[in-house]
Amino acid sequence: MTDSSGGFEAAPSALRPHAEDAFAEELRALAAADDRPRPARWRLSPWAVCTYLLGGELPGGTVITPKYVGPRRLVEVAVSTLATDRALLLLGVPGTAKTWVSEHLAAAVSGDSTLLVQGTAGTSEEAVRYGWNYAQLLAEGPSRKALVPSPVMRAMAEGGTARVEELTRIPADVQDSLITVLSEKTLPLPELGEEVQAVRGFNLIATANDRDRGVNELSSALRRRFNTVVLPLPESAEAEVEIVARRVDQLGRSLELPSAADGTAEIRRVVTVFRELRDGVTADGRTRIKSPSGTLSTAEAISVVTGGMALAAHFGDGVLRAADVAAGVLGAVVRDPASDRVVWQEYLEAVVRERDGWKDFYRACREASP
Ligand SMILES: Nc1ncnc2c1ncn2[C@@H]1O[C@H](COP(=O)(O)OP(=O)(O)O)[C@@H](O)[C@H]1O
Ligand SMILES: [Mg+2]
Repeated sequence: MTDSSGGFEAAPSALRPHAEDAFAEELRALAAADDRPRPARWRLSPWAVCTYLLGGELPGGTVITPKYVGPRRLVEVAVSTLATDRALLLLGVPGTAKTWVSEHLAAAVSGDSTLLVQGTAGTSEEAVRYGWNYAQLLAEGPSRKALVPSPVMRAMAEGGTARVEELTRIPADVQDSLITVLSEKTLPLPELGEEVQAVRGFNLIATANDRDRGVNELSSALRRRFNTVVLPLPESAEAEVEIVARRVDQLGRSLELPSAADGTAEIRRVVTVFRELRDGVTADGRTRIKSPSGTLSTAEAISVVTGGMALAAHFGDGVLRAADVAAGVLGAVVRDPASDRVVWQEYLEAVVRERDGWKDFYRACREASP
């Protein structure tokens, strides 16, 4: 195909660039404006890292967009923890931006958010410490060349930030291989009679889900190595609307969706529905309702609205309407087809139907229910 083929030959660009690439401009501007002391191997001072996360304006007029919307103190505690010899544990219910904050912290502190171990029930010790290239190992015996370092080992060697996602999903004995790393700052390589010592600047950010508690308890020995920061759900509907609107706008731009005309009204309704169902009571505090089994997090509100934007852009008139979000809301709320459907029907009839100005939303939701 040639160039006239409608852009089929266009150079590929990452579907989801890493934070340090997506926000390279902001990070550069911050580094240039930042005259405060930086801990060893940090790209920015702790103050600048906080500004990167929470947003602000630099003396030259450069605007730093807020990445995280939440209490400043939490971010300050998280950032200053990384400047100590204790590791950081971000804890919270799903969708409270633990992964998001972890990525942006690593990007701002070390300029590299990719030294990542994804925790699952199948995460092995090799993924946390090191493995072997077996062809090399058989040919030459154990050597540094035959060794395959884990992201944690690389972060230790480089003085960078390692990330461990969903720490409590990792089997307890594999979790425990982090104890020596975090307490002694060293990784023994018994096969070679050597060790890797962490270079200054090394630290580790782990995330864990509140609801996973009991899946694999964090051992108390390991827990002592971490400072825990609990990320809360957005405190008010306004804050949550702002978060959703901002992320939907960013996602829409990176997916190159034609930008839908002001969708704030619809975003507000999605957020209201999610918050009321989550809290088990209407926003005015008057009507008790049942909560469905799903989590209905901010993250889910973001994906419902992004899906609605795509519908509006491609199949509607470009304006986000109730009909574009109804199916997404239904899909997020009704996880368990039996019990959640009853909860949803009750909510629709008792709350949505009676609400002023929500007729179109009620109708769209009725039509979306099979
Ligand atoms: N307080 C918040 N500030 C900014 N973004 C948020 C906030 N809460 C949720 N989000 C958004 O929610 C999305 C999902 O968050 P994620 O980090 O995957 O959640 P978790 O890892 O806690 O389950 C991210 O795109 C993030 O931008
Ligand atoms: Mg996560």
